[in-house]
Amino acid sequence: MIGVFDSGLGGLTVVRALMESLPDYDIIYFGDTARTPYGTKSSETVIRYALQNTDFLINNGANIIVIACNTASSVATPEVTGKYDIPFFEVITPAVDHSLETTKTNNIGVIGTRATINSGVYERKIKKKRPDAKVYSKPCPLLVPLVEEGWMKKPETKMIIKKYLHPLKVSQVDTLILGCTHYPLLKEAIQSKIGKKVNIIDSALTVAGRVKTYIEANPDIDNLLTKHGKTEFYVSDITQQFKETASTILKRKIHLKQVKI
Ligand code: DGL
Repeated sequence: MIGVFDSGLGGLTVVRALMESLPDYDIIYFGDTARTPYGTKSSETVIRYALQNTDFLINNGANIIVIACNTASSVATPEVTGKYDIPFFEVITPAVDHSLETTKTNNIGVIGTRATINSGVYERKIKKKRPDAKVYSKPCPLLVPLVEEGWMKKPETKMIIKKYLHPLKVSQVDTLILGCTHYPLLKEAIQSKIGKKVNIIDSALTVAGRVKTYIEANPDIDNLLTKHGKTEFYVSDITQQFKETASTILKRKIHLKQVKI
């Protein structure tokens, strides 16, 4: 199975993208709803959680792991990939590569949680591949709770997005990386505030593309993956709000199963 984990339910944007690009492949999802958000926590804590989440997925049949959470991808990738001998996909590298393919001016914007932006990982990866690129990063901590409240289309949300994006707009970025699981759900508002000429990179879509390419090129791994078009959803806490957020993201009702990890 393809294992996917996130700090909560935002990672369902990655599941949605995987279901579109690999509809037959079975997926096991773990959302750490009891300990969300990760974006405000220390690296040490996020690493510990990421290792526990990975253990859960592997113990329940995952043969490859997608770290859907940008925060966990930013701070915990070396620790999780160093511990297990199976293929891992994080959401940062595919988005960086895609941004470098699309930018014409080398002015790239990145938005994410505080932990992701403070880690400096996007900037480091972009500059390593293109030293003359200019990277403008902006933490947008209010956007996750707004999405979780279902306020995607509210004027207040649009106003906050406008304020967050203002410095990136002034810096004339031509490409903007959505470095957080929740931001694809605000894509329309983000596009309208940053300007329609700016290329938006959705890390959920890019990582799904990367997984597909990898599976096609590695039949030995492909053979391990079951293909009944089934997805199981596990979470560490269930509330009515979580159920609603999950349905909003996947655009259908899903059955969440609670587990202790
Ligand atoms: N999943 C997190 C991310 O992509 C956002 C929510 C959180 O802070 O846990 O960075």
